[in-house]
Amino acid sequence: PKRIGILTAGGDCPGLNAAIRGVGKTAIVEYGMEVLGFNAGYSGMINNDYIHLKESQLSGILTLGGTILGTSREKPFKTSKNEKDGEHKPDRIVQTYKDLGLDCVVCIGGNGTMKTANMLGKEGLNVVGIPKTIDNDVWGTDVTFGFDSAVQIATDAIDRLHTTANSHQRVMIIEIMGHHAGWLALYSGLAGGGDIILLPELEYNIRSVCKKIEARYESNKPYSIVVVAEGIGHPKGSSAAAHVSEAIQTYTGIETRQTVLGYIQRGGSPTPMDRILATRYGAFAAQCIAEENFGTMVAIKNNELTTVPLEEVGGKLRLVDANFPLIQKARKMGVSFGDEYL
Ligand code: F6P
Repeated sequence: PKRIGILTAGGDCPGLNAAIRGVGKTAIVEYGMEVLGFNAGYSGMINNDYIHLKESQLSGILTLGGTILGTSREKPFKTSKNEKDGEHKPDRIVQTYKDLGLDCVVCIGGNGTMKTANMLGKEGLNVVGIPKTIDNDVWGTDVTFGFDSAVQIATDAIDRLHTTANSHQRVMIIEIMGHHAGWLALYSGLAGGGDIILLPELEYNIRSVCKKIEARYESNKPYSIVVVAEGIGHPKGSSAAAHVSEAIQTYTGIETRQTVLGYIQRGGSPTPMDRILATRYGAFAAQCIAEENFGTMVAIKNNELTTVPLEEVGGKLRLVDANFPLIQKARKMGVSFGDEYL
């Protein structure tokens, strides 16, 4: 029987345990494999730090947030200045893989994790990747698990801002996670009825934002909700929300308040959609191992499970396109993306 390892790497998100369970249960029950779990992402492979995952240990974790294996931002191919001589991490990973007699490692993570998985494949390891992130920016798949849960949390926060904004007739600015990709700000902004949505991919102009807010006041809409992704252009040393909030108050004279939603977006129990997506990905990854379809990432395209070569995925981001139909539709309904008067 095959012996496999599982690891979760990069920022955590809801659904990681559902994915671990999906891989593990399918591997054990359907294919009779033996399953190990590495602790804290790639660090676990560097330090030979792992646990045996029995089928019983995979029960009761479906609904849990976080990851039972822990995670880290360890990038084994990036040598840091503090690294000791002879601490060649990729070699140690290869050694762990050989010493444990593994047939494959399942790497659950985002773009960085997929890039590392691909490089380990080049070192001779059999790898299968599973895409996760609340940012939904992994290249090669239509959707990552974690995204739906984060959209739900952020939408709920925006909903709550509406009532307090209305009571005080204020402009509320809410900052949503996403350094490079604005998917989360876009989806939660639209679902939460944001009036202005600022994304890292679209250049915004603060005067354009202010014009929209003033126009709303003039048409009897005395409060506004501005959804900003954390990665939009803003001066170093201030947050995106603080920058936009101060600028609006200065230019319009209308009272503003800011909320930075932060890590709440990554915590807690996954939504049913994410539980199902992570389970489908996990079970399919186990099938890929059984079929020896290595060097691949499991993906969803048009709601069909498929695989993409890791070589194509690593390092590339799936970003929001200005011509994305949802953006075009939203513009026609009066949502501003802060670029109308550029
Ligand atoms: O990958 C998701 C993400 O939440 C980004 O949107 C965010 O910028 C980043 O991770 C921050 O994570 P950490 O503080 O864990 O590095």
